[in-house]
Amino acid sequence: MSRRVPRNDLQVLLSAEQIASRVKELAAQISADYRGRPLHLIGMLKGAWVFLADLVRHLDLKVTVDFLSIASYGGASVSSGAVRITKDLDQSIEGLDVLVVEDILDTGHTFEYLRGVLEAHKPKSLKVVTLLDKSSRRVRPVEADYVGFTIPDVFVVGYGLDYSQQYRNLPDVRIWRAT
Ligand code: IMP
Ligand code: MG
Repeated sequence: MSRRVPRNDLQVLLSAEQIASRVKELAAQISADYRGRPLHLIGMLKGAWVFLADLVRHLDLKVTVDFLSIASYGGASVSSGAVRITKDLDQSIEGLDVLVVEDILDTGHTFEYLRGVLEAHKPKSLKVVTLLDKSSRRVRPVEADYVGFTIPDVFVVGYGLDYSQQYRNLPDVRIWRAT
């Protein structure tokens, strides 16, 4: 059994304050871009749930929320490219302005797959907001419409992001390393 320690020895990459102020800025930009139009958010489980919870409370729009869960085969910190849906949408997205809420864009495999699946359901528009972007690691041709922070090629945990399902509860984003 692994011990579930908070790991406060991990180096902070983004403080809770930095994240909070950037999330407010993103929400203001999104609210301006969609002004007067209802927005349907799709939160990617599990990593994006903390970000979505903070973002949604700063959106000055008529908003609905759904969740989708995708699993990629592979180890704890690598994306293999093989992806499957483990929790589907509850609500049809046909004709809706859809904003996918992601925790992090890394290789782009996950979002490329997801975009294909969602576009097949004919939303009126489809955009993505990601809290973090490891743009230097991209191998697939996908970009986010809204990016919180571009970060270097380090494995991060906290603020919803995990390593082997741990550390999602850290209030900040930290650089993971083995004990
Ligand atoms: P991609 O398919 O390589 O773009 O991977 C995206 C997914 O990999 C994210 O939604 C995360 O679940 C996971 N991931 C990638 N980098 C990190 C990281 O640094 N920390 C935690 N999860 C990560
Ligand atoms: Mg994820």
